[in-house]
Amino acid sequence: MKIKEKISLEKVFEKEYKIKIGEIENNKEAIITHFIHNNKNGVSQFFRKDAIKYTKEILSYKYPNEEITNIVAEEALQYGIFDTFDIPFPPVENSKFKFIDLFAGIGGFRLAIQNLGGKCVFTSEWDKDAKRTYKANFGERPFGDITKEETKAFIPNGFDLLCAGFPCQAFSIAGKRGGFEDTRGTLFFDVAEIIKRKQPKAIFLENVKGLRNHNGGKTLATILNVLRNDLGYFVPEPQVVNARDFGVPQNRERIYIVGFRKDLGIENFEYPAPTNKKVTFASIKEKKVPATKYFLSTQYVQTLINHKARHEGKGNGFGYAIIPDDGISNAIVVGGMGRERNLVLDKRITDFTPTTHIKGTVNREGIRKMTPREWARLQGFPDEFIIPVADASAYKQFGNSVAVPAVQATANEILKLLNIK
Ligand SMILES: C[S@@+](CC[C@H](N)C(=O)[O-])C[C@H]1O[C@@H](n2cnc3c(N)ncnc32)[C@H](O)[C@@H]1O
Repeated sequence: MKIKEKISLEKVFEKEYKIKIGEIENNKEAIITHFIHNNKNGVSQFFRKDAIKYTKEILSYKYPNEEITNIVAEEALQYGIFDTFDIPFPPVENSKFKFIDLFAGIGGFRLAIQNLGGKCVFTSEWDKDAKRTYKANFGERPFGDITKEETKAFIPNGFDLLCAGFPCQAFSIAGKRGGFEDTRGTLFFDVAEIIKRKQPKAIFLENVKGLRNHNGGKTLATILNVLRNDLGYFVPEPQVVNARDFGVPQNRERIYIVGFRKDLGIENFEYPAPTNKKVTFASIKEKKVPATKYFLSTQYVQTLINHKARHEGKGNGFGYAIIPDDGISNAIVVGGMGRERNLVLDKRITDFTPTTHIKGTVNREGIRKMTPREWARLQGFPDEFIIPVADASAYKQFGNSVAVPAVQATANEILKLLNIK
């Protein structure tokens, strides 16, 4: 049997196949896309058996009257039956090194490290909408819950760099030494376990700045103790890095932790120096923004003003800021009134009439929220980056993401020490 028709994996999994077979989220699409994307680098063997098995399943479902053998399924995969390369950020050809992308979100780390010539060989992210954005841009669907052994089982051996922007959780370490076993049940434990099993040459972890003082400093102390003493990595003092120092107009401080496997003999690491390139919000401001969607109503502006006045100086209330064109944005954040924290002025608005999207009249000053594309640019994502999800998800995804240029500059320093650059 020769199958010539191109099949959209997304369609198959999201619509037809899943409904028919009644499945909930699984790793099948992740397995197939990881197999296809690693076809040329020797890593695909990790996914091969299962990729063929699930391709057979899909083809048997699509062509119920044909006999689908392993050979047919493999040929179909070789032929490129699934459309996974029509994407803005395809895998690097002739890559210089391999990395894995944990807690991948929408792939901020992936973009930065692909830019440096790395090939991503495994990615995990459990949020459905984030997976969609990831797939639309990189052609690969992330594996799911990283705490599950069946997910970890798909992590290939022999990658050079592990990247993870893991959510921060407290460890219950009262009276204990704050070692590996004491972190059990946290997401850091899963990261540490993967490092222990796979022994990558280098690691690059990212977290909120507040990790330094989390649980009175014990959380960070435990993380460092595990990495240095239990796992035997050289880990220099973590650094708070500000996105604004690397060419995006956003004041976003994050803590970076890097480490090197001890046997490499690396004993010194310098974080990248700020580029000192001055950028302002004007450089990323969108030209045409629909009045009905992002501009605030006069009434809503008044509500924000009243709210701020009530809470001013108390340190507990919500404060918004209007970012001037020649200024820079405060950190973009997820949840609550995150979108209203950084407003902008847009004088280009001409349509002040009431609309269906806005209760009341559009404010005359031209105060609006930033758009998802502006949030993408604040994090250093180029405009080719596809935003396939609704605004609410898009804001969440960019607010959660890393600032690509800051991560890239830091990873570049890591690679220099690994003699990869
Ligand atoms: C702070 S975000 C990281 C964002 C990412 N660095 C980026 O550039 O977009 C943490 C991510 O971890 C994901 N996550 C949390 N627990 C997870 C789990 N058990 N397995 C897989 N992903 C998980 C969340 O859905 C979230 O997207």
